[in-house]
Amino acid sequence: MEKVGIFYGSTSGATRVVAEKISKELGGSVELHNIKEATIEMIASYNNLIFGTSAWGIGDMQDDWEDFIDELGQIDFTGKKIAIFGLGDQMEYPESFVDGLGTLYCRLPDKSVVVGEWPKEGYNYYFSLAEKDDKFVGLVIDDHHQPELTDKRIGDWVKILKKSLS
Ligand SMILES: Cc1cc2nc3c(=O)[nH]c(=O)nc-3n(C[C@H](O)[C@H](O)[C@H](O)COP(=O)(O)O)c2cc1C
Repeated sequence: MEKVGIFYGSTSGATRVVAEKISKELGGSVELHNIKEATIEMIASYNNLIFGTSAWGIGDMQDDWEDFIDELGQIDFTGKKIAIFGLGDQMEYPESFVDGLGTLYCRLPDKSVVVGEWPKEGYNYYFSLAEKDDKFVGLVIDDHHQPELTDKRIGDWVKILKKSLS
């Protein structure tokens, strides 16, 4: 597999920890970046990209993604692959569960290169912007209420990514 760049936005550290676990599980040549310190050139330099965000408020991505996302329009994503993951809290925010992930997907300039969709089963919520065609648009982690499932979910998702990244 070609080099992978993981870019995450994290306010209190939970998304960073998941990004680190994904990196470890992928093995090989993986580089981890906080989106707060990223440049458009850094993102453009990878053919395999993984973007991660938490959810804040109704439909909000993590703040640093909100500040950066419009710059992605400068990149030609032809030939690249993007996988996305999101963190949320299904008990406190069941009507906007992992909405940050859904918003991140919606605002990607090229959705045709997105890989790594994830089944909806195993979560309990009313509504999520992160659903598409009866699946989630990427890996969903709730470390508040299902921490015991996090490592297995990451492992299973990474198996999918190993087949679908370049
Ligand atoms: C003020 C506030 C609003 C939140 N809004 C949502 C939300 O709408 N949907 C959701 O699934 N989680 C929501 N969360 C939960 C966070 O996304 C979750 O705690 C996440 O693990 C934080 O990750 P981070 O520390 O990497 O930013 C919210 C948390 C707080 C404190």
